[in-house]
Amino acid sequence: MSINKQIIMKTRPVGMPKLENFEIIENEIPEIRNGEVLIKILWLSLDPYMRGRMSTAKSYAASLHEGDVIVGGAVGRVIKSESKEFKEGDIVEGFTLGWQEYAIATPATIRKIDPNLAPIQTAVGVLGMPGMTAFFGLLHVGKPIPGDTVVVSAASGAVGQLVGQIAKIAGCYVIGIAGGKEKCNFLLNTLNFDAAIDYKNENVDDMLDKYCPKGVNVYFDNVGGNITDSVINKLANYARVAVCGVISQYNLTAPEPGLRTHRSMLTNQATTEGFLVFQFAQKYHIAIERMAKWIKEGKIVYKEDIVSGLENAPAAFIGLMNGKNFGKLLIKVSE
Ligand SMILES: NC(=O)c1ccc[n+]([C@@H]2O[C@H](COP(=O)([O-])OP(=O)(O)OC[C@H]3O[C@@H](n4cnc5c(N)ncnc54)[C@H](OP(=O)(O)O)[C@@H]3O)[C@@H](O)[C@H]2O)c1
Repeated sequence: MSINKQIIMKTRPVGMPKLENFEIIENEIPEIRNGEVLIKILWLSLDPYMRGRMSTAKSYAASLHEGDVIVGGAVGRVIKSESKEFKEGDIVEGFTLGWQEYAIATPATIRKIDPNLAPIQTAVGVLGMPGMTAFFGLLHVGKPIPGDTVVVSAASGAVGQLVGQIAKIAGCYVIGIAGGKEKCNFLLNTLNFDAAIDYKNENVDDMLDKYCPKGVNVYFDNVGGNITDSVINKLANYARVAVCGVISQYNLTAPEPGLRTHRSMLTNQATTEGFLVFQFAQKYHIAIERMAKWIKEGKIVYKEDIVSGLENAPAAFIGLMNGKNFGKLLIKVSE
């Protein structure tokens, strides 16, 4: 019987997660039953929404209990199958495979990956959940029109870097907001954004005045908080605010007083729409095909931040909450 290394939420984090909230345990891998497959995890995706799973606050993702293996997206290889739909050697992606070396899954919870389309880890990155979020969040919710000024926050991250590039493809003027000079240089020099604002070292209000003299037509919000307050104050008439995430709020232990936004929404006849990527699930195939084509044509590049070793997932996750990641954060679990 083989051993499965797993990472559990030992205690529920209060505020910013700490290493002591996590624990590595070992368990035997149970035999699979009829219809199930056994998957060797190769890549693990670390995503900000997982902080919501660690909390009891209302969320679209079910809460973890203390002692549960951390649930999360992963890419792996089927090494044993009792299912007609999957065979040994298939590469699969699943949203709930979790922080462990081996996972047992049913066909309904995994999908087959074509390893010829792109490197397999992109199934949890540019061709997976973050890519779908950028594509549909910008195009369906933000509704950019060529010539629009588009602002995106957390702009060098998994979602943000793609939002800005898709907005460029759509013929927009793109401003990315990110923490630090290195990330901002990447936005300007590698992703060809039109402007970048380093919110850690520059005054966001002043920079928005400089780069958006006619106001912001589309704001793709990944962070909430003070940055969002600044952008809301600069909306143009008929602006669209796509509320994707509020990472600045995920570790708060008490609500933060903020801007009253309705005046700006009213006077600019603007729209704010929160969205969850899963609402577009029926159309993922369209985005995957389009994004894969853009990658092949060199119109989209993607930056990954790869950390080796399952045991390093907790520290990497804490880093994600602090802006230490630079690009899509992945854990390489196995070859
Ligand atoms: N609605 C949906 O369906 C959906 C789907 C996927 C993701 N999301 C959301 O999209 C957002 C981005 O996710 P991602 O996977 O692309 O993560 P990511 O951008 O790769 O990583 C998170 C980044 O957020 C920034 N950040 C952290 N704390 C911050 C703070 N207090 N203020 C401002 N920025 C902060 C950091 O970048 P800097 O160094 O630039 O600060 C960090 O690198 C998250 O809010 C996530 O929850 C939503």
